[in-house]
Amino acid sequence: MTQKLALLGFGTVGQGLAEILLEKEKQLREETGFEAVIVAISDVMKGSIYHPEGLDIAQALKAVKEDGTLDAYPDTTGLIRGKDSFQTIKETNAEAIVEVTFTDVKTGQPAIDHCKAAFEAGKHVVMSNKGPVALAFEELSQLAKKNDVRWGFEGTVMSGTPALRMPLAALAGNEITEIRGILNGTTNYILTKMEEGLSFEEALKEAQDKGYAEADPTSDVEGYDARYKVVILAQKIMNTPLKVEDVSCQGITHITKEDIEEAAKEGYRFKLLSKIKKEGSSIKATVAPEKVEATDPLASVYGALNAVTFDCDLAGPITLTGAGAGRLETGYSLLIDLLNIYRNHL
Ligand code: HSE
Repeated sequence: MTQKLALLGFGTVGQGLAEILLEKEKQLREETGFEAVIVAISDVMKGSIYHPEGLDIAQALKAVKEDGTLDAYPDTTGLIRGKDSFQTIKETNAEAIVEVTFTDVKTGQPAIDHCKAAFEAGKHVVMSNKGPVALAFEELSQLAKKNDVRWGFEGTVMSGTPALRMPLAALAGNEITEIRGILNGTTNYILTKMEEGLSFEEALKEAQDKGYAEADPTSDVEGYDARYKVVILAQKIMNTPLKVEDVSCQGITHITKEDIEEAAKEGYRFKLLSKIKKEGSSIKATVAPEKVEATDPLASVYGALNAVTFDCDLAGPITLTGAGAGRLETGYSLLIDLLNIYRNHL
């Protein structure tokens, strides 16, 4: 059975998913039976194309490489141009919406309204934007359930590293009493590079050049990005409502090279730790730099890598480490959400 997709947004992540679908088409079909066809792409800057029988992905990628727009996409019979995001949701035959627009993390828009429109139209949504999930988890989860559709957002925490699906699927039956993690690659990169002798500013510049940092790096260095991820983990994995403002948050801007050297002498490493701990029926959630003992698995997480430890009552502490950002990694997070909607798995 073929899954018809509409992409809202065709930037780095949307193109990453398109490339994966193109390259892995045969493997996915043979190994899982999954076949996806992109019927629509709607991007505020690049233009919008729709063909009910499916677009030519290679041509769409080629067009965007040529001049940054979809203008050069061939005008084949049946091609419709110009549908905006809401028309694409409501008026196309797409069954699943891939929401990868440029969304304001502070308001969650326009992604929140895209989700609402899609769910009400009976369409699944997959996305990697954190804001909408952290800000509107309860409302959107209920709406998806009411309309009997699925909402996937694996990529919001640690991109293609399964920080959400692994505990939900593979650790089911445990009580997870604490989650501790390094959930922001930019700050981990900066702290690692400061250990190697770079200044905070030099290390931040490198992280920006490598594409790890948010458009506004304040969100990384002040801990706000990690705080969104904490809220998502608390709600999805610990089943506990939590608001962004309920998470106490401290960044790494006050950490000096001297602090890091001092900690190293004592056998510790500074990490920006995100922590969610069950306390009776409520939870305590924090983001703050901490000195971590060298023997802790989180201490050996270098550079832009992310990691998370789940403290399980039956299985004990389980640590997962991997990429927290990246074009293919985040593209993959969307693919695994789509694949599991297709397979009707978690
Ligand atoms: N700026 C984020 C980070 C990207 O550094 O981890 C992924 O959310």
